[in-house]
Amino acid sequence: MNILGIETSCDETAAAVVADGSRVLSNCVYSQIQSHQPYGGVVPELASRQHVEVLPRILDQAVTQAGLDWTALDAIAVTQGPGLASSLLVGLSAAQSLALRLRRPLHAVNHVEAHLYSLFLPDSPTSTRVPALEAPRLVLMVSGGHTALVRLEHVGRYQWLGQSLDDAAGEALDKGANLMHLGYPGGPAIEQAAESGDPEILSFPRISIRASYRTAGGLDPDLCFSFSGLKTSLLYTLRRRPELLENGNLKDVAASYQEAVFDALLDRVERALDKAPYRSFGCVGGVARNQRLRARLEETARRHGLALHLAPMAYCTDNAAMVAGLAGAAGGPPPADPAALDVEPALRLASRPIS
Ligand code: KG4
Ligand code: ZN
Repeated sequence: MNILGIETSCDETAAAVVADGSRVLSNCVYSQIQSHQPYGGVVPELASRQHVEVLPRILDQAVTQAGLDWTALDAIAVTQGPGLASSLLVGLSAAQSLALRLRRPLHAVNHVEAHLYSLFLPDSPTSTRVPALEAPRLVLMVSGGHTALVRLEHVGRYQWLGQSLDDAAGEALDKGANLMHLGYPGGPAIEQAAESGDPEILSFPRISIRASYRTAGGLDPDLCFSFSGLKTSLLYTLRRRPELLENGNLKDVAASYQEAVFDALLDRVERALDKAPYRSFGCVGGVARNQRLRARLEETARRHGLALHLAPMAYCTDNAAMVAGLAGAAGGPPPADPAALDVEPALRLASRPIS
C-alpha cells in the first residue's frame, strides 16, 4: 500500500511516499523560511503563492525518489487542517485533482494527529522498525502552532488533556528571538545562542494560569500552558536593561528564556505523570528538535521509569511522511469523498470510533 502524502499547512511545501504506514520511500520538504525571514514570521499570502509554485516539483520528486511511477500509488493523503486556510487550499486542491485523475482514494488528515503519528515512524529512511511504545502513552506536542498534552491509546484514539491557552511553545521562542533580534525561526536561533549561555543569570516567571482561564474548554488547568506572560516579561526586561542585548550578554538571556519555556513544559508533564499511570512517554513537533529539551525529557522519563520515544529529528518539523504514514496506519483516517472535502483551518483533534 503506497500512499502519497501532501502537507502545506504552513510554510513547508512537503510530499512523501510511505508504504504500509511506516516504510518511508521518500520524504521531500521545501522550506520557505528564507522568503519569510525578512518579515520575521510567516506571511500567509507569500506562503500560499510559494506552495503553488513549488508543489508540482516536490510531488514529482517524491514519486521519483520513491522509485515509483504515478500508477503505483494506491492512495493520496493530504493535510486538511488545522493551518493557514490559503496554504491548506493549495495542498488540498492538488490532492483532489490527483485522486480524481488517478482514481485513487483520498484521505484527509488532521495535522496535529499526523505530528502525533511521527512517533511511530522509523528513525532512519532505510529502517522499517517502528518503535515499540506501550499504551497508555503521554505525548507532549510542541510546535509553532500547538502546545498540548495528549493521552494516546492507539492511532485514532486520543484524549486531549491540556493545551496552551495563549501562545504555543514554538511561538514563544519565535517571539522571544524576535525581541532579542536573533532572527526567524526563533527556536533554532535561541538554541544556538543559548549553547554557551548560563540559564540562571536571569529569572523569568514560570506558568501562571490566570483565573479567567480556569474554565477554558473544560480542560484541567494544571495541564494547561501559558507563555504570553513570559514573552511580556522578556520585553520589559530588555526595555529596562538594553545592555542585555549586547553580544556578550545575549547568550545568557537566550539560555534563561529557553530554560523558562522548558521548565513550564516539564512542570506540566510532571503533573500529568502524577495524575494518571502511563507506560510510555513521547514528544513531537518542531520544538522537539531542541537538544536541551530532548536531554531534559530523557531525564524526566528516567526518573519516572518510563520508556521515552522522541520523534525522529526529520519528522519533528512539518513533513508529509507523517501525513502519508498516518493515512496508511491501522486506525488512520478512512477515505473521504474528494469532491466534498474542504479545508478546516481550525480543525480539532477528535478520536475516531473503534470499528
Ligand atoms: O512543527 P513545526 O514545523 O510547525 C508547526 O506545526 O508549527 O514547528 C515549528 C516550530 C517553530 O516555532 C520553530 O521555532 C520551532 O518549531 N523549532 C525549534 C527548533 N527547531 C524548530 N524550537 C527549538 N529548538 C529547535 N531546534
Ligand atoms: Zn506542524
